[in-house]
Amino acid sequence: MTIDGKVRKTLAELGVNDAADVEALFAEVRAAIEAERANLVSRGAVSESDRDKLCKDLRDRWLARKNGILSFIDENWLKKAPKEVKPAVGKHFNALRQAAARLEIADLLRDFHRDVTVTVTGVQVKASVGSAIITTTAADLTLPGNRRPLGSLHPVTQVQREIEEIFLNLGFRIESGPEIESVYYNFDALNIPESHPSRDDWDTLYIDSKTVLRTHTSPVQIRAMEKYGAPLYIIIPGKCYRHDNPDASHSPMFHQIEGLAIASDITFADLKGTLDFFAKKLFGEKIRTRFQPSFFPFTEPSGEVAISCIFCGGEGCRVCKESGWIEVMGCGMVHPLVLRNGGIDPEKYTGWAFGLGIDRFAMLKYDINDIQLFFQSDVRFLKQF
Ligand code: DAH
Repeated sequence: MTIDGKVRKTLAELGVNDAADVEALFAEVRAAIEAERANLVSRGAVSESDRDKLCKDLRDRWLARKNGILSFIDENWLKKAPKEVKPAVGKHFNALRQAAARLEIADLLRDFHRDVTVTVTGVQVKASVGSAIITTTAADLTLPGNRRPLGSLHPVTQVQREIEEIFLNLGFRIESGPEIESVYYNFDALNIPESHPSRDDWDTLYIDSKTVLRTHTSPVQIRAMEKYGAPLYIIIPGKCYRHDNPDASHSPMFHQIEGLAIASDITFADLKGTLDFFAKKLFGEKIRTRFQPSFFPFTEPSGEVAISCIFCGGEGCRVCKESGWIEVMGCGMVHPLVLRNGGIDPEKYTGWAFGLGIDRFAMLKYDINDIQLFFQSDVRFLKQF
């Protein structure tokens, strides 16, 4: 008699009278569950809808409330069991329920084996996928993947590196110093005494009476002289801070590059030649430079460097305000007192220095009219560089 037949009869009708018979009977049922399940999940290639139906049919055959095999067992075997075997029937029936839980559809689908045929750019690949839920048609491996956008260097960093490159090729080294700086290095050592009106030129952010956020990269001149002595060829890129309200040309944080060359016999001619070479390398061979007298406490004489307008070639335009020239940096011969403050004998050595704003160079180079754009982290702006 098949399982289906047996579950429609009572235990008495089946001649099951003691615990051993009960155990054997339930073992038979469990074996049937396993066999039917194994038969289903190793079914091989079937369409998705056939597979779903097969799984549902098997589940219902065993677990449907109405006319499911377990319902019959409950009705005919358990409820009608003679007292003596009832506990054994109850125990085996519980175990059976647990075994039958593996016939739930999700479980069956998970274990369903099927052959998947995937076409990879014209080549047929046959793959056997076990223990996988395949809910859609096989993945199309020819679809493009997820693109992760690549970052890029900030335009200010790019210009900084270009400038560094030019000076590195001239034999300069890159030096750096602290952004939180002592008043001594930021001012006094650079020949800007406390009472002197020139200190007003720098709108300083004080941390306490002896400490500032450096207003320029010049203090690193002194630090480097103390550290290395002469001769010295360095550039100093870095962040600087001033008590300025942000507008199109001001930012409380900005970037400078300082240049410093100290050796015996350094003259203003070296300064002119170097900065002219630098301007041509950065902006093109046609660029001319102009030096005008100026004042900085740490240089004597001091100069202001202008380049011929990179937009109009010197004809006069909106950017150069019709002058044909754009002022780009301060420079000069290092003041003897500054050399001395750095521990270098001004009788033996001379030097030149310059300071420029990297942000301003980047604005010129990319024709940007608002420095704030650099610091707003707007990807729509930044990704253009
Ligand atoms: N430190 C000056 C400033 O921030 C710029 C400068 C001018 C630096 C002349 C120099 C120099 O080294 O020689 O305004």
